[in-house]
Amino acid sequence: MKAVQIVDLSGPDTALRVQDIPEPEPSHMLSPGSGVVVDVRAAGVSFPEVLQTRGEYQLKPPLPFVPGSEVAGIVRSAPEGAGVQEGDRVAAFCALGGFAEVAVAPEFLTFPLSDELDFAQGAGLILNYHTAWFALRLRGRLTDGETVLVHGAAGGVGTAAIQVTKGLGARAIAVVSTDAKERVARDAGADEVVRSDGAWKDEAKELSGGGVDVVLDPVGGDRFLDSLRSLGEGGRLVVVGFTGGSIPEVKVNRLLLNNTEVVGAGWGAYVMPKPDLNREIGTAVNRLVDDGFVRPIVGARFRPEQAADALKLIDERGATGKVVLEFRD
Ligand SMILES: NC(=O)c1ccc[n+]([C@@H]2O[C@H](COP(=O)([O-])OP(=O)(O)OC[C@H]3O[C@@H](n4cnc5c(N)ncnc54)[C@H](OP(=O)(O)O)[C@@H]3O)[C@@H](O)[C@H]2O)c1
Repeated sequence: MKAVQIVDLSGPDTALRVQDIPEPEPSHMLSPGSGVVVDVRAAGVSFPEVLQTRGEYQLKPPLPFVPGSEVAGIVRSAPEGAGVQEGDRVAAFCALGGFAEVAVAPEFLTFPLSDELDFAQGAGLILNYHTAWFALRLRGRLTDGETVLVHGAAGGVGTAAIQVTKGLGARAIAVVSTDAKERVARDAGADEVVRSDGAWKDEAKELSGGGVDVVLDPVGGDRFLDSLRSLGEGGRLVVVGFTGGSIPEVKVNRLLLNNTEVVGAGWGAYVMPKPDLNREIGTAVNRLVDDGFVRPIVGARFRPEQAADALKLIDERGATGKVVLEFRD
């Protein structure tokens, strides 16, 4: 089968090769001896693959290896008792091995893909939307009628967070850096958009009538302090990532004075050992698809031979929505 491999750790420009390699066995490291085999139509591209080309991600398989954490495609085979069967359209989280014509995922991380979504959208469904649901609902305890401030709102996690916020009956204020990203955030369904180089903290407080209930933060860096200041009483700042580069520190007296919380949301580490929780989140996200709230925004599509361009788009802050590799039309 055709696959994109990382062959060295020299960065996205030079570390990738398209190779012909044997197809994988129906077994996954999270479910040894068992797995759903998927004929891949599209693979999602994300920050971790960029880091993997430099050896900077926590998961460090021996070289060469096939990266790619999530795919959409058609089930070729499934273990007995799985919720999907041969011929089903699915979205699947495989952790590694997704940049290939055939990939394997555990059955508890393989979900039916609605006919409302194409395969490219399906390849953007699990990492971003499961993270958004986990971060907002489980960790951030978001309820209807509340207001969420979403950083990096035109990105993969950001656009997903806007749509999950709307699906949970809450209001979304998006923070973005450019006009083009403002359009993406509005297309994703943001109620309001503020600019990261403007007075976004004061605007968010005004738009929310005194302070937001939840901040969803995949960016970190120097905007963290103003994120805390934008929270209303009882507000929760949910830490999701650090695309801004630096890891912020917080003086905890601020939390005491304003009765606020900082909450960590690390989706993978929390959900991977909990098959039932994955099924629960999968069902919740698919319900939001059925109800019309979740429509993954595909910002760029590449062929496998262009994988370096896909990774560089993310690395250079140019990505909007989800970046995908399309393996078959
Ligand atoms: N905690 C979890 O479980 C979990 C799960 C999935 C992903 N993540 C993490 O969440 C983060 C966001 O992922 P994503 O897929 O949404 O990424 P993305 O699509 O590339 O979006 C990231 C956004 O961050 C903003 N940003 C600010 N400063 C940046 C900089 N110096 N370089 C690049 N972007 C910058 C950009 O928005 P503006 O230009 O508008 O500022 C960009 O749109 C990543 O760190 C990822 O590893 C965490």
